[in-house]
Order: sequence, then C-alpha cells, then structure tokens
Amino acid sequence: MKTNRTFTMIKPDAVENGHIGAILAKINEAGFKIVAMKMTQMSRRDAQLFYAIHAERPFFQNLVDFMVSGPVVAAILEKENAVADFRTLIGATNPADAEDGTIRKLFATSIQNNAIHGSDSDDNALIESEFHFATREIF
Ligand code: CMP
Repeated sequence: MKTNRTFTMIKPDAVENGHIGAILAKINEAGFKIVAMKMTQMSRRDAQLFYAIHAERPFFQNLVDFMVSGPVVAAILEKENAVADFRTLIGATNPADAEDGTIRKLFATSIQNNAIHGSDSDDNALIESEFHFATREIF
C-alpha cells in the first residue's frame, strides 16, 4: 500500500552516544513530521521478530544482541515520498559507504552499529509501525 509515512529507530549505539537530539534535528530539518515517537527497549523476542527477515544471515545473533543492548527511539515520520527520502537522509547501511552529511556518515560507527533504521518499502513501514505502536499512539 502506498503511504507518505516511514518508520525509524534511533539504535542503541546512537542513544548511548548522546545523539538523539542531533538526529531528530536532522530529521526535522529534512522536512519530516513526527507523528509517533517513544523510547523503548526491545526484548530478545521483539528483536528476533523485527529482524526475522535476516534470521539466516551470519550477523543475526550479533544484530539481536546489539538491538536489545539498550533503549531505542522509535518513531513514525510523515513526508511526501517518505520511505525513499528517509533512506537518502540516513545513507548507506555501512557508514564507510555513506554520503557526506547523511545521518549514518555523521553518527554510525560500523555496519552493525549504524545509528538508525529506516523502512525499505511502504509495506514494511506499515508493518514496522504497527509492531511498535498502538493505533492510539499514532497521530
Ligand atoms: P538495518 O538496515 O536498519 O537493518 C538490518 C541491520 O542489520 C542493519 O541495519 C545493520 O544494523 C545490520 N547489518 C546489516 N548488514 C550487516 C553486516 N554485513 N554485518 C553486520 N550487521 C549488519
């Protein structure tokens, strides 16, 4: 389904390193409206389900360990062309490959500890949003 919304998480590394405020400022400056937001810590089961698509990948256990290691900031963002524009704003998965000025180039430290998540399709944006937020938490 086509939507003008995407889902994001500021990951445990960026939260721990004190980058929540700077990352939210970049998101606002890029024209995204925050329509849902919370700080939350995923359980192992949550992380395994959220990243189920990567379950067979060699990095899966480390990814789950990382994602449960501390709180994340989950949010739903609204803007025309939200999914694609947000992926441009955050940059490549591996910060070494990310363009200058992108959130991952500025704040990520490795391909795993890459500071922020952005949905890769409108369908996944909806699935991921509903994973983290109840209807009454979305505005
Ligand atoms: P993201 O694209 O948000 O969702 C999948 C995550 O898996 C990705 O961010 C990284 O945190 C992690 N990841 C992807 N590829 C690798 C890799 N090759 N090695 C370690 N972690 C990875």
